[in-house]
Amino acid sequence: MRLPEKIVMASGNAGKLREIERLLEHLDVAVVPQSDFGVSDADETGVTFEENALIKARHAAAATGLPAIADDSGLVVDALDGRPGVYSARYSGPAATDDSNIDKLLDELDGAEDRSAAFRCVACYVASAGSEPVFGKGEWCGEILTERRGDGGFGYDPVFLDPATGLASAELSAEDKNARSHRGQALRALVEALGRD
Ligand code: IMP
Repeated sequence: MRLPEKIVMASGNAGKLREIERLLEHLDVAVVPQSDFGVSDADETGVTFEENALIKARHAAAATGLPAIADDSGLVVDALDGRPGVYSARYSGPAATDDSNIDKLLDELDGAEDRSAAFRCVACYVASAGSEPVFGKGEWCGEILTERRGDGGFGYDPVFLDPATGLASAELSAEDKNARSHRGQALRALVEALGRD
């Protein structure tokens, strides 16, 4: 295993941080959010999940001098030609909240027959700002519900149906969500890739 003792986590999203800390807790690594070092969010100027994950990881590593992990993720909806995609967090505008994003999504899909969608996640590790990145990816396929269900998770979880369990992502326990989710898959793939080096 090539992981160091301490890694900075390049995210200010509390929901994501909770999940990522849990996903990495079996490793002997301290995962410290970048906010603990006073590092603000990077500008996500990329047009792919890979580009944005790399931008965020390099930004956190450059600001702290520590190895960094970042995740970039979003919801890809077939009937919307892949939107909101990399713009999932800002879908309903610059002052977007989870609630306003869900409202916009339900409006846009009003009456749609095809409600298939997928959460995608790319996790990225850099040992330093200038070093070669290591990536792990995950995809969780499901459907967009017509109304909210459950109160767990964050983001679009209340309207994302996991077909295997028949539950909304917000109805899954944190453990069950991590076992199935795009983020769980991506972090497991990343840890495996790092272990192989
Ligand atoms: P990012 O910080 O640019 O990666 O934004 C990801 C956005 O995608 C989040 O703010 C959510 O809106 C959405 N998203 C990503 N992963 C999840 C998830 O696991 N559940 C619900 N929404 C998610």
